[in-house]
Amino acid sequence: MKTLNDEMGRLAEEITERIGRFLPSEDGYQKTVAEAMKYSVLNGGKRVRPILMLLTYRALGGPAAEETSLVDPFLAAIEMIHSYSLVHDDLPAMDNDRFRRGKLTTHAKYGHAMGILAGDGLLNAAFEAALSAEESDNTRGRTIPALRVLAEKAGVYGMVGGQSVDVEKTGEPMTEQELDFVYRLKTGALLQASMQVGAVLAGADEKTVKEMGEIALRVGLAFQIQDDILDIASTTEALGKPVGSDEKNHKTTYVTLYGMRASKEAVENLSDEALTMLAKYPGGQRGEPLAELIASLVGRTV
Ligand code: IPE
Ligand code: IPE
Ligand code: MG
Ligand code: MG
Ligand code: MG
Repeated sequence: MKTLNDEMGRLAEEITERIGRFLPSEDGYQKTVAEAMKYSVLNGGKRVRPILMLLTYRALGGPAAEETSLVDPFLAAIEMIHSYSLVHDDLPAMDNDRFRRGKLTTHAKYGHAMGILAGDGLLNAAFEAALSAEESDNTRGRTIPALRVLAEKAGVYGMVGGQSVDVEKTGEPMTEQELDFVYRLKTGALLQASMQVGAVLAGADEKTVKEMGEIALRVGLAFQIQDDILDIASTTEALGKPVGSDEKNHKTTYVTLYGMRASKEAVENLSDEALTMLAKYPGGQRGEPLAELIASLVGRTV
């Protein structure tokens, strides 16, 4: 598994174990799709989104006693949605990539139809997992507001909307405004969902939840710009996915629009802004786990 650092690596492993409990069993006539789903989710991955969710929950004072029953379902849900977005992103009809997280992409291993279905299955399983939090939340009503955030940020006003403009504009130039729109939605939205769901589950007030969305947006933009940088500056071996994918597909990226140096500066500035905004919250100071994670994403190499 690729990890950001040792501490995040330990958390990623723990979270992976927790996510596995929400996957469907691999038996019955439909066992191939269940296998393909498991392959897509548990095949490595940094687990940035569930780690961000959990650390936000903790930073905002969410009780440890409720992590298993209330938060774990959402950790699984966000990673399932993210993994499904990658499975579909890699399909021949989209970015057409054969490697992901150091292994064959789901469609390359299981065939195109199973790639599509594994993605569909994961999206559904994500909501089944998240709904299971309701059992332990019958008095405070945090599950439904958290689900609302998750659903919105995954959909047409979130990740799917961003991906749709990304593919529509593939091979054509994009304006600065269009690129900003795509990055906010295709990547920013799931990072927002991660922090905002963590905040909602911790019982944060509306203003705090909104502010977490603003912080996460900056983290998300920085994250995608760094992804663009790595697509040029890293190696397939280090990343576990093909470098040069954007060039192959004639994508407009932050780097093609603004250049490498400005892109690196943007990653740093956006992350600094996020950290400054976070600093006023308990647990948001540099050195605390949540701030540490955000800081570690600057200059990440995986
Ligand atoms: C890749 O996300 C897709 C982007 C939004 C840039 P990650 O870099 O989080 O991928 P994994 O989950 O670690 O494989
Ligand atoms: C994808 O952006 C973001 C998603 C919502 C999946 P990319 O197409 O740049 O992601 P990678 O580089 O394939 O991981
Ligand atoms: Mg893509
Ligand atoms: Mg891609
Ligand atoms: Mg990329």
